[in-house]
Amino acid sequence: MKLYIKTYGCQMNEYDSDKMVDVLRAEGVVQTDKPDEADIILFNTCSIREKAEDKVFSDLGRARALKQNNPNLLIGVGGCVASQEGDVIIKRAPYVDVVFGPQTLHRLPQLIAARRESGRPQVDISFPEIEKFDHLPAARTSHGAAFVSIMEGCSKYCTYCVVPFTRGDEVSRPFADVMREVENLTAQGVGEITLLGQNVNAYQGETDDGDTVDFAFLLQAVAALPGVQRLRYMTSHPREMSQRLIDLYATTSKLAGHLHLPVQSGSDRILAAMKRGYTALEYKSIVRKLRTARPDISITSDFIVGFPGETDADFEATMKLVEDVGFDASFSFIFSARPGTPAAEMADDTPYETKLARLHRLQTRIAELGQQVSAAMAGSVQRVLVENISRKDANELAGRTENNRVVNFPGSPGMLGRYVDVRILSGTLHTLRGELVIQHE
Ligand code: SAH
Ligand code: SF4
Ligand code: F3S
Repeated sequence: MKLYIKTYGCQMNEYDSDKMVDVLRAEGVVQTDKPDEADIILFNTCSIREKAEDKVFSDLGRARALKQNNPNLLIGVGGCVASQEGDVIIKRAPYVDVVFGPQTLHRLPQLIAARRESGRPQVDISFPEIEKFDHLPAARTSHGAAFVSIMEGCSKYCTYCVVPFTRGDEVSRPFADVMREVENLTAQGVGEITLLGQNVNAYQGETDDGDTVDFAFLLQAVAALPGVQRLRYMTSHPREMSQRLIDLYATTSKLAGHLHLPVQSGSDRILAAMKRGYTALEYKSIVRKLRTARPDISITSDFIVGFPGETDADFEATMKLVEDVGFDASFSFIFSARPGTPAAEMADDTPYETKLARLHRLQTRIAELGQQVSAAMAGSVQRVLVENISRKDANELAGRTENNRVVNFPGSPGMLGRYVDVRILSGTLHTLRGELVIQHE
């Protein structure tokens, strides 16, 4: 049997898709990148913004056409749209066979079997807490880097966001389980670990003797493992950047000098309406402390433009924050009203064109600043993990720098998965060009 899987949304979903492939591989299913050859098509969906959700339903329509030629084709919908809509998906698209949530993906084989035996679509979007982590096969990775999920869900309930509803409240994976998974990965030669969760710095992991440890403790323990060469995490919340966590940037050289710390807005009024739990000044103070601990740390962020009630003055405050902080790169989005969230009920009288103009201004400025950072890297030597062979040229490799930029340079495929030193020759916004200096063992 062949499986085609399409992933939307964030890295949590990317991670979950890998896990879906793993659980089905254990049943003898192989992956294909051609939907028309597949016996099973899975959509791992995202509902963070309306556009993401619309895309799923248009792609489902295409899968339906394939099913007309191949009645045995099984169509499954997982992820955050599935979690939020449940049965409604079957009502809207009756040709869908199974609907499962982020916390029930390990039950896919049973759901598929039940679908075949009963002849009826199956829906399971429950939140059996940590059960998911217990039932998953070991992670597989390639080229020296791996993601390790340390917690699920989110309990912050920012007023615009669906994640607490689609993924449930925060649940941390036990400390020993995380350590074991990282050790398994380093034993396979993986040197770069990214700890993953919607809110990793809210981590509260139980230890074998019943205590709880926080994220700073976990980071320190993972960094102390000899096989770990570079350590990253995402995403973290400004409200939980503890001093102990910040101090690790001074003491722990394996911790990459890059932090993605979503700010969303520079206006205190809007931050309060979003229920973010910090002011612009508090955010800047965190950044200042981080830069004291690690002077060259690169900070990236997320922004929402056009939140209900955002005035010109609020938006100018965001632009000022961008200047004050000097972000290295950022993602920015126009506010999307999500059903069931408090912000969807708030009065929103800013015309869409105004929001769009604000978004363009913000993105242009962010791009200029990012371009300056890339250009300033020219001449420097960067330690990069070689992750891929360039798509355009087989004699070119692509590696990732500490500040999360991709650098292309001539090299041989034998370097895949290794750390090498690369001198940066030139830099544009999204990619750098470089030349090899030395290769590490
Ligand atoms: N847990 C992370 C990120 C979650 S989603 C955090 O809190 O920072 C990723 C990004 O999508 C958010 O940072 C936010 O900028 C954006 N986003 C979330 N909900 C949105 C909405 N309703 N409209 C527009 N952007 C949204
Ligand atoms: Fe959504 Fe806020 Fe949780 Fe991030 S912290 S996932 S934006 S509710
Ligand atoms: Fe999207 Fe769900 Fe991730 S809504 S951004 S896939 S947590």
